[in-house]
Amino acid sequence: MQIPADVLDVLTDPRTIISGDRVAVPFELDRALYERVNRMLKDVGGRWDGRKSARAHVFPFPVEQFMRDCLTAGEWPSRFEQGWYPTPPNVVFDMLEHASIRVGHTVLEPSAGVGSLARPAAEQMGIVDCVEIDPRRAHVLRELGIARQVIQGDFLDLDPLAIPEPYDRILMNPPFSNAITHVMHALGFLKDGGTLLAAMPESVTWHPDRQAREFRKLITDNEGEIVKLPDDAFKPSGADVRAVLLRLDADPDGTLPTHGWHRRQPLQLDLFAAV
Ligand SMILES: C[S@@+](CC[C@H](N)C(=O)[O-])C[C@H]1O[C@@H](n2cnc3c(N)ncnc32)[C@H](O)[C@@H]1O
Repeated sequence: MQIPADVLDVLTDPRTIISGDRVAVPFELDRALYERVNRMLKDVGGRWDGRKSARAHVFPFPVEQFMRDCLTAGEWPSRFEQGWYPTPPNVVFDMLEHASIRVGHTVLEPSAGVGSLARPAAEQMGIVDCVEIDPRRAHVLRELGIARQVIQGDFLDLDPLAIPEPYDRILMNPPFSNAITHVMHALGFLKDGGTLLAAMPESVTWHPDRQAREFRKLITDNEGEIVKLPDDAFKPSGADVRAVLLRLDADPDGTLPTHGWHRRQPLQLDLFAAV
C-alpha cells in the first residue's frame, strides 16, 4: 500500500521518533492527517498507547528496521495486500550466517524488494544482482547503489541459460503465494557447488499437492535442510505467516536443476537428429 505523501512527510520528519518498539509523533497534526498516519501504523501492527508516559504507537516487535524499509519503499505491506514484506532482521541474520558470503562471491536476489537481503549481502562484499518486478522498488534498489545490476521484470521470465555466469549464492524471500515455483526457477541460476537460501511458507513441509511433494523429494534427495522459523518470525514485517528457511547446497553429482544441470541437458534439437 502506497504511503500518502503527507504521511511520509510526518514519518520522515526529524522530530518523529522511531525507536525500539514505538513510533511517536510529538507535534500537532490536523485531524484528517492524524487519521491517515494512525491508519497506516495500525495496519502494520501498531497500537496507540495514549498514556502520558507513552503517547506513541507501540508495536509487538522492534520496529526501526521495518519502518526504515517502508519509508525507503514509500509503501507498507498491508494486511489486505499480498506481495511485499521485507525479510525481518532476525531472518536476514540467519540467512547470512548460512550463506557464508566471501569477498567476490556472486549473489542473486531474484525478488529483491528494497534490498533487505541484498544490502547486507553487498556489505559482506558479495557482488549482488537483483531482480524485482515492481518498478518503484526496482527504482529504490538502483538508488541504493548496492547492486551490480538491477533487472526490473518478472524473474520467472528470465532464462537461466542466457546469463554469462551462474551465481555462488542465491538469497531469496520470494512471494509466498508462488514460492516453490520461484525457488525451482532460481536453482537454474545456481553454480554447481553454490548455495541457495530461501525463506518459504511452512506449508511446503506438509502440503499434499504434487508440486510440494516433488519439491520435498528433491530436497531430501539432495540433502537439503529445512529449518522451522519461530511462529512469529515474520511478524516484524507485518506478515502473520509461519515460515521455514530452506538451505540447498548444489552438489555437481546431485539432481538439483542447477545452471550446470540445465546445460547438461540434451538440446531439444537432438530430438530431430537423423537416425
Ligand atoms: C516477500 S517480498 C520480499 C522482498 C525482499 N526479498 C526482502 O527480503 O525484503 C517479495 C518481493 O518479490 C517481488 N516479486 C513478486 N513476484 C516477482 C517476480 N515474478 N519477479 C520478481 N520479483 C517479484 C515483489 O514485488 C516483492 O518485492
